[in-house]
Amino acid sequence: MSRRSLSFICQNCGAAFNRWQGKCEACGEWNTLSEEGADKPSSLRKPGKGRLFALEPLTGDAMDAPRLVSGIGELDRVTGGGFVRGSVLLLGGDPGIGKSTLLIQTTAALARAGHRVVYISGEEAVAQVRLRAERLGLRDAPVELASETSVEDILATVSEGNIPKLIIIDSIQTMWTDTVQSAPGTVTQVRGSAQTLIRFAKKSGATVILVGHVTKDGQIAGPRVVEHMVDAVLSFEGEGSHQFRVLRAAKNRFGPTDEIGVFEMTGLGLREVTNPSELFLSERDLGSPGTAVFAGIEGTRPLLVEIQALVAPSTLGTPRRSVVGWDSSRLSMVLAVLEAHCGVRLGGHDVYLNVAGGLRISEPAADLAVAAALVSSMVNAPLPADGVYFGEISLSGAVRPVAQSATRLKEAAKLGFARAVVPEAARAEGGDGLQISYAGNLTSLVADLAAQGRPANRAKPDRQDG
Ligand code: TYD
Ligand code: MG
Repeated sequence: MSRRSLSFICQNCGAAFNRWQGKCEACGEWNTLSEEGADKPSSLRKPGKGRLFALEPLTGDAMDAPRLVSGIGELDRVTGGGFVRGSVLLLGGDPGIGKSTLLIQTTAALARAGHRVVYISGEEAVAQVRLRAERLGLRDAPVELASETSVEDILATVSEGNIPKLIIIDSIQTMWTDTVQSAPGTVTQVRGSAQTLIRFAKKSGATVILVGHVTKDGQIAGPRVVEHMVDAVLSFEGEGSHQFRVLRAAKNRFGPTDEIGVFEMTGLGLREVTNPSELFLSERDLGSPGTAVFAGIEGTRPLLVEIQALVAPSTLGTPRRSVVGWDSSRLSMVLAVLEAHCGVRLGGHDVYLNVAGGLRISEPAADLAVAAALVSSMVNAPLPADGVYFGEISLSGAVRPVAQSATRLKEAAKLGFARAVVPEAARAEGGDGLQISYAGNLTSLVADLAAQGRPANRAKPDRQDG
C-alpha cells in the first residue's frame, strides 16, 4: 500500500497536514493551507542505501572567501564588504519598492567591471528589462539577460562556459523545478527551486541573489522556509510616498546585520545616499511644537532623524495611539513613564508618533527624543531647533546611558547642531563643542519643558468673546 501523502501545505510557514483546515496549527495563520502534490514515494530513497562520502579534518585549506565588490557602497556596506563566492542571498521587499532597479544597477556595475553576470527575470520580458536599463543609462553594460522560469533550463544555460560571478533570479516565486510536482509559486515549488539553486551556488562558486516578494504583514511570501536556507536575507524597505529606500540585512552569515544602506529613488534609478542624516533632516519643520531630532546609530554609522509627535484631546473613549516608524509597545512604555513619574496626563489625549522620512528605527536610545517630542506637543512649546536628543528611559523614569555617545554628538556637531540633551552618564565622553544638558531623569526635563509651555492655545480653547 502506498504511503499516505501529506498534501496540504501552509503557504506561510511550510507546515504540512494531511487534511485541509482553516487555521494552520503550526503558525496560527488562517486560510494559508493549500493543496500541493506531494513527492512520489518512488522518488524517495530507500532507507539504508546512502552514498559514502569523505569526512574532512578541521585543518586544511579553508575556501578563502573572496568577495565580489559591487562598487555600490551602500550595498557593499550591508553585505559586509561585497558578495561572498558561492553564497545565496534573498532580497525581499514590497512590490514596486525598487528591487529590480537595485539589481539591474548592481549587475550593470559588475558587468562593466569585467565580471560575467546573468540576470534572469521570471516576471518581465527581456524587452521590459532592456527598457528599464535604457532609462537608467545602463544599456551598454554587458549583462546577460533572459526571461526564464525553469530552474533546470537556467542552470544548464549558465553552466555553459565560464560560470557567472553573479546570477540574479527575479523572483523566486516565479521559478519552478522538475523535481517537485506542485504549481509555481507554492511553498513546495519555491523551496524546491531554492534548494536546487543553492546547491548550484555552493558547487560552482557563483553568487546567487533570489528576489522574494513580501506579503501585507511584512513576511517574505511563501519562502519563509527559504530564509533558513540562504546565507543572507536582505530587505529593501521604504514608504511608497517617500523617495528614501533602506536596505537592511535581517540575517547575514558573512557580515553584520545592523548596517543599513540608504538610497534615494530618482528619475534615473537609485542614487546612493552617503550622508543619510542630511537627507532625513532636509525637510524639517523648524520651530513647531512636537518635533525633536534624535541622534541615532545604525550599525556603525550615526543617523540623525526627526521624531514628530502630536498629542491632541480625544473624543474617543479609548484614545488613539498611532505610531509610524517606531515600536508601539515602546511608545506605551514612554507614555506610562510620563504619566506615572512626570505628572503628564495623557489618558484623555490621542497620541500620534511619526519618524520623518519613512525610516524605521528600533533603538531604545530614541526614548528621550520621543518623550521630548510628546511633551513639546502636549504643552505646545517648540523645542530648540538646534538641539538633539538621545537616551534610554527606564521604567523608573531615569535616563539611562546608551552606546556611542561621542559618535552621535560628533555627527550632530558636524550637521550644525548647537545643543544636546543626553544621559547623565555620558558626561565623561565630552561634547564636541556642543552645549550639553545632562539629564539624570525624565522628571526634570519635563518640568523644564512644561515651564515654557503655552498649554491654553490648543489643549483648552478659550472662548471668552461673547
Ligand atoms: P522596481 O525595481 O520595478 O520594483 P520591484 O522590482 O521591487 O517591484 O521599481 C519600480 C518602481 O520604481 C516604479 O514605481 C517606478 C520607480 N522607478 C523610478 O522612480 N525611477 C527609475 O529610474 C526606475 C527604474 C523606477
Ligand atoms: Mg521587480
